[in-house]
Amino acid sequence: MSKHDLLIIGAGLAGLRAAVEGVRQGLNVAVITKVHPVRSHSNAAQGGINAALTDRGDDWRDHAFSTIKGSDYLADQDAVEIMCKEAGDALIELEHMGVIFSRDDEGKLGTRAFGGQKKARTFFVGAITGSAMLHVLYEQSVKYNLSIYEEWFVTKLVKVDGKCVGVIAIDMKTGKVESISAKSIVIATGGAGRVFEPSTNAIICTGDGLSLALRAGAELMDTEMIQYHPTTLAGNGILLSEAARGEGAYLINSENERFMERYAPDYMELASRDVVSRSEQTEIDEGRGINGCVLLDMRHLGKIFIEERLGYLQEVATEFMGIDLSEKPIPIKPGMHYIMGGIKTDYNGATSVPGLYAAGECANVSVHGANRLGANSLLDTVVFGRRSAVNSVEWVKNNEFIEIPDEILISEKKRFQSLFDQPSSGIRPGKLRLEMAESMTKGIGVWRDEKSINNAWEKVKNIRENYNNIFLDDKGKVYNTDLIGALELDFMIDVAESICAGAKARKESRGAHFRTDLKDRDDKNWLKHTLVEKNDEGFMVKTSDVKITDWEPEERVY
Ligand code: FUM
Repeated sequence: MSKHDLLIIGAGLAGLRAAVEGVRQGLNVAVITKVHPVRSHSNAAQGGINAALTDRGDDWRDHAFSTIKGSDYLADQDAVEIMCKEAGDALIELEHMGVIFSRDDEGKLGTRAFGGQKKARTFFVGAITGSAMLHVLYEQSVKYNLSIYEEWFVTKLVKVDGKCVGVIAIDMKTGKVESISAKSIVIATGGAGRVFEPSTNAIICTGDGLSLALRAGAELMDTEMIQYHPTTLAGNGILLSEAARGEGAYLINSENERFMERYAPDYMELASRDVVSRSEQTEIDEGRGINGCVLLDMRHLGKIFIEERLGYLQEVATEFMGIDLSEKPIPIKPGMHYIMGGIKTDYNGATSVPGLYAAGECANVSVHGANRLGANSLLDTVVFGRRSAVNSVEWVKNNEFIEIPDEILISEKKRFQSLFDQPSSGIRPGKLRLEMAESMTKGIGVWRDEKSINNAWEKVKNIRENYNNIFLDDKGKVYNTDLIGALELDFMIDVAESICAGAKARKESRGAHFRTDLKDRDDKNWLKHTLVEKNDEGFMVKTSDVKITDWEPEERVY
């Protein structure tokens, strides 16, 4: 059985940053990932990374306030303070590692404006910031000769005596199922976007880590907080970065009005994402949309500027819609983009399960609360990825390896075999996945109410029952994506139920959780986190207090 001091599940930005730190701290580190590291979804992050640099006359407190206001006061302010204070060092470290950030006219690191902030503090690499960062962190992992279990799928976290001691995983290349022992584990598996359909997320974003943690006894926090990004492409839901609006693009309706004037006169198109998405949806619902969309207009920016600063968007617009952004506005609409909720951790990445940590989108520290600011997610990955590895050192020093009992491995193998043995009259997993994801979008959308939440939850419960009748066509061992798809769906069902449980419990509107039956924010009763646990009775919801430091909740106006 292989053994590691620190095993990181996921090789996106949070995972690789944690891994680099673990090696620097002298730990025996390995990363296990279901895709090659540079195919992780961090690759798709476009617009940039926020940091308030003092030598630019900026102040971390201003960044912190924007983040807290953006979160609709649900973020834990001690965690936000840490993220915003550490942002400058994290950014400069990335630059020193080799990320070639775009420059301004003086040759200094350039910034662009992003939503929910008055100061332009988003550092960027064109519109491929995540990709640039991911490739550099991958280079670092090569430099440090990191062990990577590439194309391995983790099916279970193993606990012995209440501690997390390793994983069971399938080597997708051979089909072999193995135990890997680890003194500490960081879950860094990214988001769960594909629990919704459509989504800006890669097909691999199936919420595996959230379900693994839930099954190991960890709590999921604020799962109802689902971000709908204001600019996703009509038809296929591909992301068109907020960078476009940061660089000056407008939103217009069928009457050629810049409608944001009505909803956020001060911030206009750069209000926070929940506000812009709701404004767009209102325009569409009230008949001022065009085929279920509004338009993103950047003609006034000119072809040269668009191609220099937003080249990737121009490529997407041309290839998927046949539109030259310098000549024609492009139809867009709100689309599922990010889950603010996730595995509850403290600001050092620790979960409630000893030996288990989490970082990145799968975790909830909580710095995003009810609505994340654009370009704070890349920051979250590197700040809290690093901190989770640092924090695991003490645990590693004070704990011995524990052998994974054979019966756990045997029982997992039996579980997979039972899927292969299902009668061919069964249902294909992909059909269930699509049905579930579409009903999640319907029920837990930009708007939601008691009825829509209940409908979505009923559907998910029905999918869970039908899961017992799925059928796998491929019985082979090598790259059996049929089996992996079925196991992912099993995880996704847990995540979907957790989201419904959180949404039903929160009896107010806050940030991205807008209930048309309870339209107001209710600080008296709901300045609280929801905490979802899974036990024999199902999905249980408790609440906990939000940590307030310097910023008392006030009305949120943009
Ligand atoms: O619009 C964007 O570029 C997305 C950025 C983010 O989600 O942080």
